Amino acid sequence: MSRIERAVIEPVGSDLVALAQCHALDATIFPHTSLPPVFASDPLAPAIWIARVEAGGPVVGFVGTRAQQDVLEIVGLAVDPAHRRAGIGRALVRAAARSARARGLDRIALHVSTGNQAAIELYTREGFRKAELLPGFYASRRFPDEGNAYVMIREID
Ligand SMILES: CC(C)(COP(=O)(O)OP(=O)(O)OC[C@H]1O[C@@H](n2cnc3c(N)ncnc32)[C@H](O)[C@@H]1OP(=O)(O)O)[C@@H](O)C(=O)NCCC(=O)NCCS
Repeated sequence: MSRIERAVIEPVGSDLVALAQCHALDATIFPHTSLPPVFASDPLAPAIWIARVEAGGPVVGFVGTRAQQDVLEIVGLAVDPAHRRAGIGRALVRAAARSARARGLDRIALHVSTGNQAAIELYTREGFRKAELLPGFYASRRFPDEGNAYVMIREID
């Protein structure tokens, strides 16, 4: 069994407990919570996929997205530190990519801090390229590299 097959990846749907667990991870992991734009985009059906180590277990990771025209934007991606380097982030990105393909979207895009080597490596390995450098994109002082960010893009084939 591959490492990815061990995680259960599913849409969060209307599972309020899972949503609360996503918010808890979001608030713990990011300097500023990442999920509000997902809910602003579609409050009743937020486009979030979650990861559990086993069916029915606690949420250990999520990817939050929103669609804008022909682009699926990854707004937030996070994995519980206790479960990193087990293929869960990769599986979540692939779930988002499958959704983009199923919806006929052209590409996936995201912003990532230039100091976030783990995420940049993950996205690069998943076929994303650095499309643009945005100096000072993250205004908060809690981001590294003076808030500089890359726009990373992956075409959907
Ligand atoms: C980025 C993040 C989501 C990766 O999740 P993960 O489940 O640990 O990632 P995976 O195990 O699926 O890793 C897949 C590949 O990404 C790369 N990668 C992941 N973490 C890495 C790290 N710390 N250093 C270098 N490469 C890394 C590797 O190529 C890895 O493959 P390998 O383990 O076979 O070498 C996780 O570190 C995280 O939640 N970070 C904090 C939040 C964040 O930065 N989110 C992204 C915002 S844009």
